[in-house]
Amino acid sequence: MSTNRQDRGKWGSRVGFIFAAAGSAIGLGNIWRFPYVAGENGGAAFVFLYIIFVIIIGVPVMISELAIGRYTEKNPVGAFRLLAPKSWWPALGMLGVFTGIGILSFYSVVAGWTLGYFVKTILGEFSGEITTGNLEVIYNTFVGNPVAVIIYSFIFISITALVVQGGVSEGIERWAKILMPFLFALLILLTLRSITLEGGAEGIRTYLLPDFSKVRAATFGKALGQALFSLSLGMGTMITYGSYMSKKENLVTAAGYVCFFDTLIAILAGLMIFPAVTANNLSMGEGPGLVFKVIPAIFSRMFGGHIFGAGFFLLLAIAALTSTISLLEVPVAYLVDERHWKRTNAVLLMAAAAFLLSIPSSLSFMSGGFFANIPVLKMKFLAFMNIIMGNYSLAIGSFFIALFVGARWGTGMIRSDFTENRLSPVVYNIWRFLIRFVCPIAILAIFIYIIVSGDYA
Ligand code: TRP
Repeated sequence: MSTNRQDRGKWGSRVGFIFAAAGSAIGLGNIWRFPYVAGENGGAAFVFLYIIFVIIIGVPVMISELAIGRYTEKNPVGAFRLLAPKSWWPALGMLGVFTGIGILSFYSVVAGWTLGYFVKTILGEFSGEITTGNLEVIYNTFVGNPVAVIIYSFIFISITALVVQGGVSEGIERWAKILMPFLFALLILLTLRSITLEGGAEGIRTYLLPDFSKVRAATFGKALGQALFSLSLGMGTMITYGSYMSKKENLVTAAGYVCFFDTLIAILAGLMIFPAVTANNLSMGEGPGLVFKVIPAIFSRMFGGHIFGAGFFLLLAIAALTSTISLLEVPVAYLVDERHWKRTNAVLLMAAAAFLLSIPSSLSFMSGGFFANIPVLKMKFLAFMNIIMGNYSLAIGSFFIALFVGARWGTGMIRSDFTENRLSPVVYNIWRFLIRFVCPIAILAIFIYIIVSGDYA
């Protein structure tokens, strides 16, 4: 192991870690996925379930993943190999490696769209009187053009690969630290504009006043999947990031910060999107195109809107970058630690795999194309990946991580992290109860509910 010590890394500082982990968590999941999934699933009722799942499942699983990573100083496969040798547990790490590539593949397509929209805004495509009809046409034409979409996602994966190649603290940490605060500021500005739009009240109502009659089995599954996706949990990202954390840091408070900021940004993104949806006569169930239609509608009504609009898409692309970095880092750390690959080769292979797998997702919006409506599944390839990799795989992963910590590794291993921080033993007991009972039972119950009701997607 000592040979590749230098190929691993360490976070430069305590804030550095929090920024990097928050950078992984905060991304398209908060700003692109959360609003449209919430819109498709009844608004406030979904948001309510989402917050519950962040608290009872997200926070405890994040603490667990970070603890496993920091304790073992390894990638997910290596971590389980070390803690449970000669068992099936390392397969859980492998699932994470594949899920990382799977998520990266469709995520970078959407990240590519944000680059495309940045360019469009700069070129002035949204200037003048912009109507809802125009926004639909611009969106459909753009995502339906496979050449542009493939080129943009290629660019995106390449940038991700370059940063990951740079290693942990110089690459990932530096980017995250500098750029995240700007995104936050711009988000607040656009939210202020949006909630003061005429006709926005209706959207705010749908977003904040729950209608529980809209809740179905799939709503539970999606709220859980969204919580895990947004917090980067269930595939070992936080195991990997925890492995670069110093023993001096307190991982309980770190997990608390990351979960808090991630949720705050998602809620703010909803507050930015929903008033503008009704103000522009768009529909709540607009689907994956939602933000791309709504944001231009907001900034076209702002003084100096184009600058803010272009800035927003650029920062969104950067937020996506700090997330794709963490997705690629998992399979790369696996090859470097377990197979003793050179970092460069590991990055090249995994980035190439993600790019190849991204092509069918890029072709998903071509009208009449094969991947726009896959036979039998009757859905777009991108939507399929989004559900399988971005919901189910993460839920399965989190279920087993909870089982692992609760039943195999033992919660006592993490106890000192609570006591050292002078958090009361009560907090430790709450976490222990959540990870041993609430997480596995809740996830299992949701799976059973989905299977019984046949409400898969
Ligand atoms: N959480 C990120 C987002 O919200 C996406 C992401 C990065 C992710 N790493 C992950 C999702 C690991 C699941 C697992 O945009």
